[in-house]
Amino acid sequence: MSAASIDVARARAATPGCRDLVHFNNAGAALPTERTLRTQIDHLELEARIGGYEAQDAAADRIQGIYDSVAELINGAPTEVALMASNTAGFDLFLYSLPWAEGDRLLTTQSEYGANYVAYLHLARTKGISVEVVPNNEHGEIDVDALEATVDERVRLISLNHVPTNGGLVNPVVEVGRVARAHGITYLLDACQSAGQIPLDVAEIGCDALTATGRKFLRGPRGTGFLWVRQSVLETIHPVTIDHDAATWTSPSAYELKPDATRFEVWEKGWVGLLGLGAAVDDALDWGVPAIRDRIVEVAAALRERLTAEVAGAEVHDLGRTRCGIVTFSLAGRDPHTVKSALHAQGINVSVVGPASALLDATSRDLPPLLRASVHIYNTHDEIDALVNALQP
Ligand SMILES: Cc1ncc(COP(=O)(O)O)c(C=O)c1O
Repeated sequence: MSAASIDVARARAATPGCRDLVHFNNAGAALPTERTLRTQIDHLELEARIGGYEAQDAAADRIQGIYDSVAELINGAPTEVALMASNTAGFDLFLYSLPWAEGDRLLTTQSEYGANYVAYLHLARTKGISVEVVPNNEHGEIDVDALEATVDERVRLISLNHVPTNGGLVNPVVEVGRVARAHGITYLLDACQSAGQIPLDVAEIGCDALTATGRKFLRGPRGTGFLWVRQSVLETIHPVTIDHDAATWTSPSAYELKPDATRFEVWEKGWVGLLGLGAAVDDALDWGVPAIRDRIVEVAAALRERLTAEVAGAEVHDLGRTRCGIVTFSLAGRDPHTVKSALHAQGINVSVVGPASALLDATSRDLPPLLRASVHIYNTHDEIDALVNALQP
């Protein structure tokens, strides 16, 4: 598949938000398609017309379809998928459910996301684990040789973000997986910023658990996400919290955990949003994630080049040999929040990513708050023109 296989006009026509807006905040929340929007409205209306429980029953096949579609997206099994309200909901649930013992080591990466890292620090505080950051290689990616060199029998978990929140970096997750597998270490991958823009294959990556959110490059609704856990691993994990859906209450003093990944779920879920997530995943599968990736990479590369060449004082801060759809930059002498507001007033959405989102990376590179322009398949070179023009001092 090549970038040519994305029909950009068709992608835009299917995306209501493209009509009035130049949306470069896809790493925040991407624009949904009409199909995703309609799926939600239809279910919302059905709930109002026939009742919420009855609507759930009526949608049973399509609800099963969400699990099937997510599984297809990442090459896992539907029974290994748990539906969540966010990336962090699934990530924390897996993380906190591991049988931590004092002195266990958790290895992560320099670019790690704030929500993940404070949870590690919380485990250090409450369980006495040691949180250790594997150094970067010269490209700013996790250094896989350094990872291999530091591994010993006390390492309980390797846990990292595939793509950080603050740049175009793509970590070498397959190589990390080889180390994890070779040493029998549990491997948790935060695919929050990669799901929907980079092909994900849990068999190839070799991770034990993977998390994602709906609203970012997957173009799903807010308040949705998923946790995937390898069957052989999930059978060994007792979730840190359970309800009577995660486990069957079998006698006054006993329960039995579900044998599949639904042991990580709670009974009450927002089916409106989750059905929207299913539709969004189906859209991604219809386009083909490799084709989406190619288009995104092409547009992001063009944006980086033009910012550097045409906007005085612009400095692009993205690291890595492989760069994805997140473009971060600073403008000498200009406050990013003011720039963001000025762009917004002209119908152009970007975001600002502050140091606390990826504190270790921001500190080590002495990064100021950065402007983040993240692209998707529906962004065009004309929209890059609009952004570059609007950024002229
Ligand atoms: C790399 C990364 N991980 C995790 C998250 C958290 O996702 P959520 O807000 O869905 O929990 C984000 C959100 O920006 C992120 O960028």
